Amino acid sequence: MAQFQSSTCEIPNAKAIPSHIAIIMDGNGRWAKQRMLPRIAGHQRGVKSVRNTVRHCVEIGVEYLTLFAFSSENWRRPKDEVSFLMTLFYSALDREIDQIHKDNLRFRVIGDLAPFNAKLATLIKEAELRTAGNTGLTFTIAANYGGRWDILQAAKRMLNDHPELAGGFDECHLSPYLSMNYAPEPDLFIRTGGEQRISNFLLWQLAYTELYFTDTLWPDFDSTALDLAIASYQARERRFGRTSEQLLATP
Ligand code: IPE
Ligand code: IPE
Ligand code: MG
Repeated sequence: MAQFQSSTCEIPNAKAIPSHIAIIMDGNGRWAKQRMLPRIAGHQRGVKSVRNTVRHCVEIGVEYLTLFAFSSENWRRPKDEVSFLMTLFYSALDREIDQIHKDNLRFRVIGDLAPFNAKLATLIKEAELRTAGNTGLTFTIAANYGGRWDILQAAKRMLNDHPELAGGFDECHLSPYLSMNYAPEPDLFIRTGGEQRISNFLLWQLAYTELYFTDTLWPDFDSTALDLAIASYQARERRFGRTSEQLLATP
């Protein structure tokens, strides 16, 4: 298993183009409401933004893109909307997977797949297996994902494998069990739709991620909007706990 730098154990090398971008795709419902359309029309339109975002990330050399599609709290939504989102996930993945594979992308899903129907779970597993050897961008969908769930499942699996750690363990023991163990921590976090919160996304992994919030609704998020987020990222000073002076003195 590849090991990645931990922002709290060592100082990561920050590059001009973020290696890993994580996005909360928010605002689909409001996009639809503004047009007097049902909320599901916003979700449908959001798929186009997903496609554009993946393409643009490939073009500019982003290596990992992680999109929050369904949170562990989104089950609280009306039944009809939840089942529409599941159907949409299935149909979009079924339709796009050939192209994803052709484009050399590695597809992954993080989250608790247990409550998903067998057909969707099988499609996800097949897509992951089929694209596992690809060497292009790693495209992750977070579905039925919660940051707290992730930390808890990691602790449970770690202690199952290593009962002797019950008396004490550290970050290096736990992090290989987190669901994003195959990716570096996100450099840039983007949330569309105007809300400024994490909503139980990658709680552990966002420790030193640069946060960017935009009022743009997800269905309107295009390559120009992504470039703006990256420009904001490039203007940040990533100190990882150090002072500005120390950074300037580092070759
Ligand atoms: C994000 O858009 C999509 C999901 C959470 C599945 P929303 O559906 O949350 O849209 P708003 O926030 O109601 O506008
Ligand atoms: C966060 O959006 C989850 C996803 C985009 C999948 P929500 O719309 O569910 O978040 P809250 O409820 O406004 O925090
Ligand atoms: Mg929302």
